[in-house]
Amino acid sequence: MATKEINQYYDATASREARVGLAFAVSLLPKSERNVNVAIDCGCAAGADIAYLRQHGFSVYGYDVEAEAIARCTQRFRNDVEVSLTQASFNSFSYPTASIVYADASLFFCPKSDFDEVVTKIKGCLVVGGIFAASFLGHRDTMATSDYDQDVFWSDVLTTDETALKAKFADYEMMKFTEHESDGLTVQGQPHHWHIFSMVMRKVNH
Ligand SMILES: C[S@@+](CC[C@H](N)C(=O)[O-])C[C@H]1O[C@@H](n2cnc3c(N)ncnc32)[C@H](O)[C@@H]1O
Repeated sequence: MATKEINQYYDATASREARVGLAFAVSLLPKSERNVNVAIDCGCAAGADIAYLRQHGFSVYGYDVEAEAIARCTQRFRNDVEVSLTQASFNSFSYPTASIVYADASLFFCPKSDFDEVVTKIKGCLVVGGIFAASFLGHRDTMATSDYDQDVFWSDVLTTDETALKAKFADYEMMKFTEHESDGLTVQGQPHHWHIFSMVMRKVNH
C-alpha cells in the first residue's frame, strides 16, 4: 500500500504542468511525422504526463509499480479508451511499439540489476526516429545518501553520471542533455539536494 508520503507526492503532482523535457520531446514529433502514435509513460504516478501526451494526440500506455498510481489514473482516464494502464515494474511491463518513451523521475528507482535489461526493452520498443526522454539521478542527490528514507518511498535507488549515461546511449542521437544541481524542498517540505541528469534522445537506427 502506498505510504502517506507517496500519496502526498501523487496529490501534489497530479495537476502539475509538463516539464520542459516532455514538451521538447513532443515538439520533436509533430503529428504529421509520426508513424506510430503511441507513447509510454514509465512510472506514471497520478497521470499528469499521460494527460499532456493525450492533449498532443498520442495513445498512451502508462504503467507504475504502485497500485495507488494505477487506481488514480484508472479513475482519471475512465472515459478515455486511448489510455491503457498497467500495474507493472520497469522490467515486467510489456513494451508496445512506441514513438515516445518517457521516464521522468522514475528510473531513479530501477533496481541496478534490472537496468541493462530495461534499457534494452525500451530501445527495442521505439521506432526508428522515436524519442526516449528520461531523467536519472546523480551521485550527489540526497536520495543517494543515508538521509533518504527507503521505508517511506521506493527502496531501490539507482545513481549514475554523465560518462556512464552517454556511453549507454551512444547509439542514440542526443537532442538535449542537462545536468541540474540545486537545493530545495520536497513536497513534504524536507530539505533536498537535487542532482539530476535529463536526456532527450532520438533512435537513429535499428
Ligand atoms: C518520483 S515518482 C515520478 C512520477 C512521474 N513520472 C513524475 O515525473 O512526476 C516515481 C514513480 O515511479 C514509480 N516507480 C518506482 N519504482 C518503480 C518500478 N520498479 N517500476 C515502475 N514504476 C516504479 C513510483 O511508484 C512513482 O509513481
